[in-house]
Amino acid sequence: MRMCDLILKKKRGEELATDEIKFMISGYTDGSIPDYQMSAMTMAICFQGMSRRETADLTLAMRDSGDVIDLSAIRGIKVDKHSTGGVGDKTTLVLAPLVAALGVPVAKMSGRGLGHTGGTIDKLACFPGFSTALSAETFVHNVNTVGIAIAGQTASLAPADKKLYALRDVTGTVDQMSLIAGSIMSKKLASGSDAIVLDVKTGNGAFMKRYEDAVALAEEMVSIGTLAGKKTAAVITGMDQPLGCAVGNSLEVIEAIDTLCGRGPEDLKQVVFALGARMLMFAERAADEAAAVRMMEGAIADKSALQKLAEFVEAQGGDSAPVYDTSLFPTVKQTLVVNARSDGFVNRILAEEIGTACMQLGGGRENKDSEIDLSVGIILKKKNGDAVSAGEPLAVLCGNDEKKLHAAANRAAAAFEIGKERKEPDPVIYRRIDA
Ligand code: URA
Repeated sequence: MRMCDLILKKKRGEELATDEIKFMISGYTDGSIPDYQMSAMTMAICFQGMSRRETADLTLAMRDSGDVIDLSAIRGIKVDKHSTGGVGDKTTLVLAPLVAALGVPVAKMSGRGLGHTGGTIDKLACFPGFSTALSAETFVHNVNTVGIAIAGQTASLAPADKKLYALRDVTGTVDQMSLIAGSIMSKKLASGSDAIVLDVKTGNGAFMKRYEDAVALAEEMVSIGTLAGKKTAAVITGMDQPLGCAVGNSLEVIEAIDTLCGRGPEDLKQVVFALGARMLMFAERAADEAAAVRMMEGAIADKSALQKLAEFVEAQGGDSAPVYDTSLFPTVKQTLVVNARSDGFVNRILAEEIGTACMQLGGGRENKDSEIDLSVGIILKKKNGDAVSAGEPLAVLCGNDEKKLHAAANRAAAAFEIGKERKEPDPVIYRRIDA
């Protein structure tokens, strides 16, 4: 079999057979298929798509490219959560300690930033000393003792996805449904949880911009998870503006901590509660969504979720002092305020543009090996539906480089659509999809 023939086949829009997909994934994993052929293939997939059967084959081939973890040594029903990626999406940092404080064992594998979206692994790096490179023993031990462990993708877990994820990030091939479904579900199936809750984002800042595409992606992933014997559910959530008000690694960690202290933005709380309810129900801790929400409100009010975050940070080698004093996080040298040019109402904040502006400040990667600046980011002062007067701040940009700040400020200013009439903001929670 030759990779070049498979690229030509996909370029013509033909279906790849199961053994061809296995050949492609194992060759890419062992290095016999180079990056340049794989990037031609992913681009052909972006244009021609994959059938449901091809997507399921791709997912299973990627899962089987490395170890499939056995978490049976962890007591209880282990629940994992994954987001398809958004701007300002710090949900895991709130959700994981929240449900862990309520007795749900969280054994989670997270990724770093992808395209214009942020990643949990980069945000956790804001805690000095924090490590996501956990041995299998430490991972199991931490879930059994602390109730939560978050690991980065190890070299042995879905290594095909690890390579492909980094390749797609820098070749403009992220936003394709089958590639996203395969990437997410291969990791989720390899990492051994009993149940999976998926946050599928839709809107301008999401990879799936159209609602129908987000629903199709959610249905595809729920069906793959269910076929593989895992309880799987998805929630479709809005990404027509960034989630919460903070975008950028340390700023988002601070907002997550604020949320665990009961001062979180409303949209973030809604997403956390919708996903957390599914996790609590899968773990048989809550009978229904209303009961689950009451439990989560209680764990925020009594600070047990905040304490759980600190315990988790310590257990993974991090300094938990910033959990109780957020001024200890890295800060920037300069800020620049973007003001409104006219009176009116904020009708849309192009989340993708805000995510890209944050990358321009140094908060994301330009190539596979770029270092990111954890301190930079953007604080939104207005959200969709808010009234605004000319001269009022729309956003504050935090950076360490004057030139980058000005370039990012122009982009952030253009991201705000201000109208004379107020447009009702799109919903935060669109729909829940169960098996
Ligand atoms: N998250 C992933 O893990 N993979 C994708 O392709 C997109 C979001």
